[in-house]
Amino acid sequence: MLICLPQVLTVAEVKQVRTLLDAAGDAWVDGRVTAGHQGAAVKANQQINEQSEVAHECQRIIASALERSPLFISSALPNKLYPPMFNRYSEGMGFGLHVDGGVRLHPYTGDKFRTDLSATLFLTEPESYDGGVLQMEDTYGMHSAKLAAGDMVLYPSTSLHQVTPVTRGVRLASFMWVQSLVRDDADRALLFDLDNAIQRLNQEGADEAARRTLTGTYHNLLRKWSDT
Ligand code: NI
Repeated sequence: MLICLPQVLTVAEVKQVRTLLDAAGDAWVDGRVTAGHQGAAVKANQQINEQSEVAHECQRIIASALERSPLFISSALPNKLYPPMFNRYSEGMGFGLHVDGGVRLHPYTGDKFRTDLSATLFLTEPESYDGGVLQMEDTYGMHSAKLAAGDMVLYPSTSLHQVTPVTRGVRLASFMWVQSLVRDDADRALLFDLDNAIQRLNQEGADEAARRTLTGTYHNLLRKWSDT
């Protein structure tokens, strides 16, 4: 399931993160430092050093924004969030087709982290740069995302994806992974559909006993499919 989450960050939060990143200086490093063998050969961008104070400050802003997003919670069913990272593509930079590593080491705890979902949170307005389109391939073909600053796209980490070369301007974004309570994308999509349908029935005050059964079914499926 590929889903766009509008306005994860407010205009003020985008500005705050942008200001921190624009002043980050030496904390910007070659993006290949975190790429695996497959990724390093096709990756050309810059990233904020995960150990820097600016990374920590920006991570706090994004993590708390995601915690208050009902759409993020219901679609990702997050168990753990990998600390958000930040990248910058200037003219001529891009990131060719690759699949993200299946298991990463958490940068602070060293714990193993299974990447179920990949996310990109856009931090620059789309009209301020050319190229820099995130393209993701699934069984239905190639999908493109170039969203407004503050919006996020969430997609299965199993997807082949790329960032097309930037040909004008600068593209700033945050990217991160989610280890979901429900690792299987199809199972998670069923729960998301069921949750949305229940919310609608609740809003319409539909038959109470039927809603109770559906809500019970939702939780019993979540219990059956979740690992923690
Ligand atoms: Ni990637």
